[in-house]
Amino acid sequence: MIKILAIFGTRPEAIKMAPLVKELGRYPGQIQCRVAVTAQHREMLDQVLRLFAIEPEYDLGIMQPGQSLFDITGRALAGLEKVLAEEKPDLVLVHGDTTTTFVAALASYYLQIPVGHVEAGLRTGNKYSPYPEEINRRLTGALADTHFAPTALARDNLLREGVPEENIFVTGNTVIDALLSTVSDDYLFTQPELNAIDYPGSRVLLVTTHRRENLGEPMRHIYLALREIIESYSDVRIVFPVHKNPAVRQVVEAVLGGLERVHLTEPLDYQPFVNLMQKSHIVLTDSGGMQEEAPSLGKPVLVLRNTTERPEAVEAGTVLLVGTGREDVLRETRRLLDDPGHYHSMAGAVNPYGDGHASSRIAGFIQYRYGMTKTPPESFGR
Ligand code: UD1
Ligand code: UDP
Repeated sequence: MIKILAIFGTRPEAIKMAPLVKELGRYPGQIQCRVAVTAQHREMLDQVLRLFAIEPEYDLGIMQPGQSLFDITGRALAGLEKVLAEEKPDLVLVHGDTTTTFVAALASYYLQIPVGHVEAGLRTGNKYSPYPEEINRRLTGALADTHFAPTALARDNLLREGVPEENIFVTGNTVIDALLSTVSDDYLFTQPELNAIDYPGSRVLLVTTHRRENLGEPMRHIYLALREIIESYSDVRIVFPVHKNPAVRQVVEAVLGGLERVHLTEPLDYQPFVNLMQKSHIVLTDSGGMQEEAPSLGKPVLVLRNTTERPEAVEAGTVLLVGTGREDVLRETRRLLDDPGHYHSMAGAVNPYGDGHASSRIAGFIQYRYGMTKTPPESFGR
């Protein structure tokens, strides 16, 4: 029997770890999987825990309004020392590139507990973009013992950095496991405002922004472009679930508040959110996870960033890296709205990120690593 502790803290980590926590719970004689959350996010984390019915054994409750990177790092590290000392897991699983991820890997290393890094190996090569996620992910990679790379490209990044091949396993991304179990064609929203939208008759732009490097002027430029779009196309609507960060809210309200056909909402629960994505026409975002989900649903994505650590869908043609310049966002959004040929060339569904079986591959590889099975599972993309 091996004792695993899954540690996470923010919305996207929870969405992507939930299917894995559920999967690991299917082997009660072999694997015990418990959960510790730093709660770097509060409401946005809790809504995911509720949806997937996950009750963490530990909750550090570290979130503070307007928290700095120093706040998160210090509070999570101190809290996790106690959790790990009490729990004494055989293996810690962390996900992705948040500050919780890096700190959980560091705390485990200090106590010489092996670390499995889920969604390992993504890179932009630019230490300030995304900030601080590129470095969080690289540092977590340096501390990890097993690297669950979602794609072959991520595996190749790790190999280039000298990670031994036997410590890397290509799994597909668990976000596709979560997505496929959550989207349904006949979904009805509980929010009357979202149910009232005539989806076939209007073109919905689904927008989210939250990256630290986009706070301030870059976000203002993005929103100014969106305002111009709304003023020029009478059939276009914007649905924008606004991140809880007050620094984001301030600028959104100032530029897009009170406009006709612009729906500024609270962050949506995962289920309504991905079902809204399925009904949308175009996705505009600086999110990492949405760059993986939207191609799977056949939605063109304009990425509001200068770099991406997820180039697979860019190469497949469904995702375009636009940056944050007002003119660039305006031009590329107009092109998708005005040119049906261009729209359809970007709207083909592709699945470079996963097939819905990433969690069972990760569980299988852990069983193999710990001598519970004789052969490893087939890797993703084989
Ligand atoms: C964090 C991660 C980022 C990830 C993102 C997902 C770091 C440094 N950043 O960024 O990698 O892409 O989460 O969304 O790890 N807030 C609330 N309630 C919530 C969540 C946030 O009020 O449930 C507010 C708080 O004022 C908080 C602020 O948002 O201080 C920022 O949260 P923080 O986790 O520091 O940064 P994110 O931009 O959310
Ligand atoms: N998401 C959600 N509700 C929202 C906005 C996003 O459930 O209102 C989901 C989205 O489907 C994706 C994840 O949150 O799975 C992405 O989170 P975010 O953009 O905050 O972080 P990132 O992926 O950039 O780290």
